[in-house]
Amino acid sequence: MIWDKKYETGNSQVDSEHKEIFRLVQQVCDEGAGEAVNSTINFLTGYTLSHFKHEERLMEESNYPAVSVHKKQHEDFVKEVLALKERVANETDPFKNNADIKKVIVNWLTDHVLGSDKLMANHYANTRPV
Ligand SMILES: [Fe+2]
Ligand SMILES: [Fe+2]
Repeated sequence: MIWDKKYETGNSQVDSEHKEIFRLVQQVCDEGAGEAVNSTINFLTGYTLSHFKHEERLMEESNYPAVSVHKKQHEDFVKEVLALKERVANETDPFKNNADIKKVIVNWLTDHVLGSDKLMANHYANTRPV
């Protein structure tokens, strides 16, 4: 996953966390199968969980109206990542793993960042106290 300006939400901390997540997902894709990819997925899972917590804090601080929908999207993604982790651990074919990673992680992340995360960051920027 290559970072692009179009993914910027305007919140610099959120953006730098997204960049790190993109970098980790790319690393997962490059590793494909084996021991290394399992540990990268574990690290990605932990990093993503703390990123989601950070976003959820921003939404609560700014009384974001769509907080429960956004939180649900995060929960669903965590479930997908955990399911993917299982499949990757049991699948030795890097091509199959790559197809799954692209389908689940890459598509979700790009859609979520371009849609929900941008809306959330705009709301936060417009409502936080000066
Ligand atoms: Fe989010
Ligand atoms: Fe995010």
